Amino acid sequence: MTAKIPAIIDCDPGHDDVMGILLGARTMDLKGITTVFGNASLPKTTKNARYAVEVAGLEHIPIAAGYDRPLLREDESADDGAGAHGKTGLDGPVIHEPTVPILEEHAVDFIYRTAKETENLHLIPVGPMTNIGAAIRRYPDIVDHITEISLMGGSTTMGNATAVAEFNIWADAEAAHIIFTSGIPIKMVGLNVTRQVNATPAYRKQIRDMGSRTAVAVADMLDFYSERLKILYGLPGGSMHDPLAVAALIDPNILTFESMHVAIELAGTNTYGMTVCDYRGRRTDTGEPRGEKPNAEVAVAVDADRFWKLFLDILQTYP
Ligand code: RIB
Ligand code: CA
Repeated sequence: MTAKIPAIIDCDPGHDDVMGILLGARTMDLKGITTVFGNASLPKTTKNARYAVEVAGLEHIPIAAGYDRPLLREDESADDGAGAHGKTGLDGPVIHEPTVPILEEHAVDFIYRTAKETENLHLIPVGPMTNIGAAIRRYPDIVDHITEISLMGGSTTMGNATAVAEFNIWADAEAAHIIFTSGIPIKMVGLNVTRQVNATPAYRKQIRDMGSRTAVAVADMLDFYSERLKILYGLPGGSMHDPLAVAALIDPNILTFESMHVAIELAGTNTYGMTVCDYRGRRTDTGEPRGEKPNAEVAVAVDADRFWKLFLDILQTYP
């Protein structure tokens, strides 16, 4: 039995963020959960993370709150409840007032301390990447203590926050730029693959029929989230964006990656927050990249059935 990969999930719960926490907590050595603004305000995303660990019996996993706004630009992420996640950021289940505490330590300091204390630490940002970007700027030597970043963000094709920008990148493109220019190995799991993995009514019925406290809460979450994504994007169910960034580190047969250069657009009037993915490949004579040196492994295909088998098997283990 190989040792579980140590990781921190940095998130903005967020329905799919909770799915990522549930998958990561069972398949990884989850050292902590850090929260950030995004799907809702920081107080809401932090409350939702506390609720999620309580409902799933994961109270042992430390939670540290991070940034409540982007590094530079004004926060334009909606907190009005009109988006995919509703007014609370986790509409659907009846959310009790959580009692599990959060650390006094800021997320940035927790990430750095954990990186220094842990061999082979992986970071899994699945919300705006403000905490990770700030950690790299505040503690530059952190790049020597992070094995890899598997992030949910960006897209090789269409956006969702704008025509070309995916929300997690768009909400703090400067932070994403810090990550993509840090030299830390990156797996980018973008909308081009995550939009192919959706919680259809059949999957949601299978989950509700599991009958456990956690499974029923997940079914309530996915029912709300799926209804919103059907209205907003015409999708057949809620997209499992964030757990796919976890799955990328668990089962190499779920996602197919290609090595390429990814630039984050910071100045475009119509393209701010776009992940500009360079598909030009390599010269046939020297093998040199035709564009800039690749800085990321970008997911280009997904085996949705394989993902669902992993996720449902893991969900069965919760109380
Ligand atoms: O664009 C999808 C991403 O934005 C997901 O992480 C979702 O939770 C939201 O944060
Ligand atoms: Ca998220």
